[in-house]
Amino acid sequence: MSAHPLRRWLAERVPIPMEELRKPLREELPVHLRGWAVWLGGTPLILFGIQVVTGILLTFYYRPDPVRAFESVRRITLAMRFGWLIRSLHQNAGQLMIIALFLHMIRVFVTRAYRRPRELTWVFGMALFLLTLGFGFTGYSLVYDSLSYWATTVGTNLLGDVPVVGHQLLWLLRGGPDVSPNTLARFYNFHIGVLPTLMVLAITAHLVLVRLHGVARLEGDRRHETYDFFPEHVLREAAIALVLLLGLVVYASARPPGLGVPADPTFTPPHIRPEWYFFPSYRWLKLVPMQVGIWTSAGFVGCMMFWPWVDAGLERLAPGRRLGTWLGSAGFAFTLALLVWEALS
Ligand code: HEM
Repeated sequence: MSAHPLRRWLAERVPIPMEELRKPLREELPVHLRGWAVWLGGTPLILFGIQVVTGILLTFYYRPDPVRAFESVRRITLAMRFGWLIRSLHQNAGQLMIIALFLHMIRVFVTRAYRRPRELTWVFGMALFLLTLGFGFTGYSLVYDSLSYWATTVGTNLLGDVPVVGHQLLWLLRGGPDVSPNTLARFYNFHIGVLPTLMVLAITAHLVLVRLHGVARLEGDRRHETYDFFPEHVLREAAIALVLLLGLVVYASARPPGLGVPADPTFTPPHIRPEWYFFPSYRWLKLVPMQVGIWTSAGFVGCMMFWPWVDAGLERLAPGRRLGTWLGSAGFAFTLALLVWEALS
């Protein structure tokens, strides 16, 4: 059968070996990955996709300067056709992405899929998690209402207290010693330029590593059956994408995004609080002296970043005792307790 003329024309001009391109689609996945709780990794990817599309639409009308930022958000929400929907999708896909990442991390932690040789897959995963928090922090500040302005002020103040590099970090983010028009410009630049670039690079590295190693088999699982990445797995991901999108649209219609009061640098609101995903560190920093809080938080993040090696070290120390699993679970329970504590206070 001869190829379609258009395909022939294209193949002559762009001589890509199509057979090579099709290979990744033929990947065979272990059957345990059929359960959604296990293959959760695709969910943050879908949500990131939703954020990229809605984020690009928002940039058409958002104005990153302190005098016009709040007004432009108001216009998007109240005057632009479907602006409320786009804003809501962008906000809530971000919140869901953090939840999905938590769940993905828990599943990888519980199945210990981060162990040799997948340590770097975990490290890139952690980088993705931190970048996602960076998106949340910078995005929240762009709204430029009173709460987001003060959360930015307090948040960047805390960074200024980081040992050794704090001062430089503060200047890098604020563009000067104080929160100023430079700060909003920088946050915008990070939010739509620096972070997305790093994110795409880290996602690529993460997924390439997942592909090169293949998905880890479960400990003690004797099943050898596999199923196809294409079309079965891809269709499952597409179904999840549809459900997520539908859920987000229904939520946006039921609870359209609100507007606070415009930022006023001369008036500090009584209850400044970051977004919920920063609650654990916020509560922790309120509980202990500042320097202790910052050093221990840095130690906690470092420990998470290099968890595969920490766990392997603990395993060598007490073989078969699963010290890592106990320690990790205790750390997770503590983080959750701090989050709930701050949420209820
Ligand atoms: C935008 C963020 C992320 C995306 C899009 C993503 C995507 C994925 C995908 C698609 C897989 C294949 C298996 C599955 O679906 O579970 C996977 C596996 C994996 N992910 Fe992620 N991930 C992200 C963040 C993270 C984070 C935060 C961690 C941990 C700190 C992590 C650690 C891992 C590890 C170790 C594997 C290998 C698991 C195995 O082989 O069974 N990932 N990721």
